[in-house]
Amino acid sequence: MSTLHADTFSRVTTPDDVSSETIANYQRDGFAHVPGIISKAEAARFHAAAVGVAGRMKARAEEGTAYRKALAQFVNVWREDEAIRELTLHPNVAAVAEKLAGVPLRLWHDQILIKDPHNNAATEFHQDQPYWPHDHSLQPLSAWIALLDVPVERGCMSFIPGSHRRTDLQATDLTNARGLFDKCPELQWEPRVTVPLRAGDCTFHHARCAHMATPNNTDEPRVAHVVIYMDAATIFNGKPHLVTGPLSLQPGHVLEGELFPSAAEMMNMAAAR
Ligand code: SIN
Ligand code: NI
Repeated sequence: MSTLHADTFSRVTTPDDVSSETIANYQRDGFAHVPGIISKAEAARFHAAAVGVAGRMKARAEEGTAYRKALAQFVNVWREDEAIRELTLHPNVAAVAEKLAGVPLRLWHDQILIKDPHNNAATEFHQDQPYWPHDHSLQPLSAWIALLDVPVERGCMSFIPGSHRRTDLQATDLTNARGLFDKCPELQWEPRVTVPLRAGDCTFHHARCAHMATPNNTDEPRVAHVVIYMDAATIFNGKPHLVTGPLSLQPGHVLEGELFPSAAEMMNMAAAR
């Protein structure tokens, strides 16, 4: 009898697979683990594309972003690379995101996040939303998609369940292990959940859910693709940010238009390809 590798049977999670229990758990905890948001074959293809993008855009990762000590960050890659555009617009990802959030969403931006082999640096605990120039965004969330297997040793994510209810915290230093806990000491005593991912798996996290990623202690770069959504009604509040900086927006402006398609528009763009 031949033995089939388990991956032969791996299937993609569709929006119909997202149960009301999963949605309720996401709303309670601020994160959800969704295995197989894309197939293994897609993960392998998008991994190759992301590595190619990183090679071409290396200089851009050196730009002064908050992340740069812990990882290389490439933002709005969907605007520049056909394969990554396909991943960012992936209908499964947008539809699952909207089911979990429970409100209409639009794209804030995407990003490829690469931790070099033996990078020796965690992405320390933080919330995402305090970095963003957003008002009126109550259900923003990120889909963090593993493009290769990401065990704990390669830099997977950990979350503090329920911490998305802390909407009062300011931005913290991603390279300072004490940053978030100095601002909010009680959070350091909360349980943490660490979620290793197989290639093609995903975690969704609310932008106020405190999270970190371990260092990469393996010989392979850790490659993740993140699609970030905000409420469709999100308003620009004037805070400096690398995505909105070149746009000369006035505070009070709804973040809509070509750069910020709604989830429905993203699905239409994917279908029209
Ligand atoms: C990481 O991938 O290392 C961090 C991602 C995040 O902070 O959202
Ligand atoms: Ni983050």
